[in-house]
Amino acid sequence: ALIHYYPELDSTMNRATELARAGCPSHTVVVADRQLQGRGRMQRQWDSGEGGLYFSIVVRPALPPRECPIINLAVALDLVATLARCCGITARVKWPNDLLVDGRKIAGILSQMEIEGDQVAFVNVGIGLNLNNEPEVADKPAVSALQLTGEKVNRAQVLADFLQRFETRMATFSRREVLRQWRERTVTLGRQVTITTLRDDCEGLAVDIDDEGGLIVELADGSRRTVFYGDCFHTL
Ligand code: BTN
Repeated sequence: ALIHYYPELDSTMNRATELARAGCPSHTVVVADRQLQGRGRMQRQWDSGEGGLYFSIVVRPALPPRECPIINLAVALDLVATLARCCGITARVKWPNDLLVDGRKIAGILSQMEIEGDQVAFVNVGIGLNLNNEPEVADKPAVSALQLTGEKVNRAQVLADFLQRFETRMATFSRREVLRQWRERTVTLGRQVTITTLRDDCEGLAVDIDDEGGLIVELADGSRRTVFYGDCFHTL
């Protein structure tokens, strides 16, 4: 992979989008030591202080738009493996793709898809990993690898480990395998959840994910609804 490194950026998402629109190859990476305007999902900010790992990957998948969200699940799984390997940390996945350790967030994923005609031009997958930083605990609890283990990790090594896993996964991509691993590593299924979107809320039992990565929720009246985006709160 070609890696573009910056000591500081507003957001790796912006730089990666520029490179993608200018035609950079798939798997181009943009990484920054800190971000002045780190972005999270649902229009939140992402605390991007020194010591964390902040990067974006430009992916050009041969998939129709509706099948692309699976890439985020795959990224989450590869991050889980990297944290286990490089830091000895066991993280779990909360739908859609937060990484948690004992309920505290250690990593987040934000992705943006750009469409040309009915084809996917690129997906910009942004990843924030709390490694040697002390994440701000605003409304939701967060934690870093350093806080968990007391040891600093080599961020370049963590990035290299992840990129290798992700490249192998994309080269041998299996939707079934991603779904299988995700079901195995999630803390969301079997839980009572509230999903909030910018439009409405939905409350029920998280029973499964569908082939596209949507969460299937069983409502109080027994009917089922599949949600494709939103914030997920485990309520029980
Ligand atoms: C979330 O959980 O809300 C997603 C957080 C994503 C943060 C990463 S850090 C690298 C990339 N650049 C950004 O501005 N955001 C993503």
